[in-house]
Amino acid sequence: MFIDSHAHLDDERFDLDRQNVIKDLKSNQVDLVINIGADIESSISTVKLAEDYENIYASVGVHPHSVSELIGVGLNEIENLAKRKKVVAIGEIGLDYYYENSPKDIQKEYFIEQIRLAKKLDLPIVIHSREAVKDTLDIIKSEKSSNLRGVMHCFSSSVEIAKEYIKLGFYIAIGGVVTFKNARVTKEVAQFIPLENLLIETDCPYLAPEPFRGKRNEPKYIKYTAEEIAKIKEIDLEEIAYSTSANAKKLFGIATGDAND
Ligand code: NI
Repeated sequence: MFIDSHAHLDDERFDLDRQNVIKDLKSNQVDLVINIGADIESSISTVKLAEDYENIYASVGVHPHSVSELIGVGLNEIENLAKRKKVVAIGEIGLDYYYENSPKDIQKEYFIEQIRLAKKLDLPIVIHSREAVKDTLDIIKSEKSSNLRGVMHCFSSSVEIAKEYIKLGFYIAIGGVVTFKNARVTKEVAQFIPLENLLIETDCPYLAPEPFRGKRNEPKYIKYTAEEIAKIKEIDLEEIAYSTSANAKKLFGIATGDAND
């Protein structure tokens, strides 16, 4: 059984069949889904989803695209949401200089503020970083504390940068991109990451793996990503499933239901 460590099932592209997608998780070998908020509105709907379904957990936070919405509003609402029972992380938070939908200085300010909120509430962080390798790493290093922990979501940097995050005790999440023929660097990273630092994710509805590239992604496609990583690492698929599930439960503080999990 797999854990999809990063999904957006609250996205409108699931409006017509969300209930069925969630109902079929188990029969598609998906044990749990961590649903990820990206602004205040989706953080609210993420918490609601997690409270409605036993096999969904929530992460709340504001993505760099949307941090401008926090100006004059602050993090009160995110903090209140973060205290709800099934919330297991703060995120996705980070820096995105590719789109730069919010100005860089605002992105940095709220990335740091949300990291500090996570430390205050003793929650892990889910990091989005695009075209912002140096600033992301600098901020993580300068905010380092005994309880700062998290995952680099949809990791797209080099092995060298992966090493830096592993040194800091972070997890690296690999998504559907690893199945793309031309994803040479991501395949290298998948080969390099020690099993104890590896998570898998779909980031659905985005970034569907082969053979569904370009279609709406779903948690059930996580197995294609896991199969590709197993092939690259030359280990059994079961070992990928077992390790990444154990890692996700450890990072997000999810208690194991029974001995057979
Ligand atoms: Ni995402």
